[in-house]
Amino acid sequence: MANHDLVIIGAGPGGYVAAIRAAQLGLNTAIIEKETALGGTCLRVGCIPSKALLTASEKYSEAKSDFAHFGVKANVELDLPTLLKHKDNTVKALTGGIAMLMKKNKITRYEGTGRIAGPGKVVVEGKDQAELEARNILIATGSVASSIPGVELDGDRVGTSTEALSYPEVPEHLVVIGAGVIGLELGSVWMRLGARVTVFEYFDTILPGMDADITKEALKLFKKQGFTFHLGAKVLGAKARGKQCTVEVEGMEPVTCDRVLVATGRKPNTEGLGLETVGIVPEKRGQIPVDSHFQTSVPGIYAIGDVIPGPMLAHKAEDEGMACVERIVTGYGHVNYDAIPGIVYTHPEIASVGRTEDGLKRDGVAYKKGVFPFLANGRAKSMGATDGFVKILADEKTDRVLGAHIIGPAAGDLIAEIAVGIEFGASSEDIARSCHAHPTLAEAVKEAALAVDGRAIHM
Ligand code: NAI
Repeated sequence: MANHDLVIIGAGPGGYVAAIRAAQLGLNTAIIEKETALGGTCLRVGCIPSKALLTASEKYSEAKSDFAHFGVKANVELDLPTLLKHKDNTVKALTGGIAMLMKKNKITRYEGTGRIAGPGKVVVEGKDQAELEARNILIATGSVASSIPGVELDGDRVGTSTEALSYPEVPEHLVVIGAGVIGLELGSVWMRLGARVTVFEYFDTILPGMDADITKEALKLFKKQGFTFHLGAKVLGAKARGKQCTVEVEGMEPVTCDRVLVATGRKPNTEGLGLETVGIVPEKRGQIPVDSHFQTSVPGIYAIGDVIPGPMLAHKAEDEGMACVERIVTGYGHVNYDAIPGIVYTHPEIASVGRTEDGLKRDGVAYKKGVFPFLANGRAKSMGATDGFVKILADEKTDRVLGAHIIGPAAGDLIAEIAVGIEFGASSEDIARSCHAHPTLAEAVKEAALAVDGRAIHM
């Protein structure tokens, strides 16, 4: 029986980052992963392949529709197999990189399914078979797509994001169930490549939970791009018969299409983990309850990432993994949940950090806001990317930045500055007085910070 200081179940961004940090801190660390490729949903069938497709499809769409505006004439043709190969090669390179990092850090890798078999005991079943003794166990098993009643997933025509990363041909008509992050990102990919895309969303807004000004602007821009949205529409079922799919929506005639993407959320992955052997009881929605140091109800067993409460984001899982391990070894480790950015990689990108305006109103927090449009930013104008704006929310009395919401070019990169600001307790004045290079998109952030006090320069 092998002995380890720490056994991690799951090698996604939460698990593999925790393993590296643990090894750096001197723990004899093992990681169990059932898939041959390391990196979890994010690297294999999530963030990374979807970004490869988003980039490639955006290049195609730009070359087809936008190049002429810049005086570049091109005859453009889609080569879908090569486009998909770019995605597969990206995934292969990155998952291979994680395997190398495991070796470099002398982390023992077990290929198989990990199951807790009692306090301090983990069994591995699969390619590797092992019984492990662990001083500490870290559950980092992530999440799986959750469907809705009435939807018959067939692993092909009616599928989740996993199938939508590899359609062998561009759908004629793609129906997307759910206007959340996955629905809009993968819907964008196939729409840019030529599909007609219809989205059904239960709530009366896209991206429910995000800042209302942002979702309003996004809806307007996405409609202009060609998306058809049915908001306040409850999907009751979907099935495929041969190549044709039928989608049933409350109060509407059935809709036919050739592919259905079910993007109605994800649920924690705890099946077969052996939680019952140690008395861990998941919450009603499946999450494993933990204390502020990521410890479950059982001493020595920890959990991080999508399997515990909070946003299901790779970077949240990574930070939790590091904090959890640091706490085990040093007694300290912390994640600031007020400064976790969220990004939607559509065109334009959407990025958020901290509080929304609705949330502040609900909690009766007095705030000031500064908004600056990309239309008035020199770099955006020269790029032909003037849609969208930056909005910064600051405490009315202290001027401390409480939240920021950006829709526009490179929003996902611009938000990092504000996340760091929030982490450091910055005021909007701090951001406004920091020198931002000209001409850059980042100047729109500075101008929004100036606008908090009504003194934006270019507006
Ligand atoms: P989501 O929770 O973002 O959106 C699901 C949507 O489906 C919701 O708007 C919901 O109202 C709608 N819905 C549910 N039942 C419905 C019904 N019967 N009829 C019509 N609409 C219905 O979930 P999504 O997009 O599947 O993403 C899953 C997770 O993955 C999220 O937590 C997300 O944060 C994460 N993710 C993050 C990405 C990023 O950071 N860029 C990219 C992709 C996923």
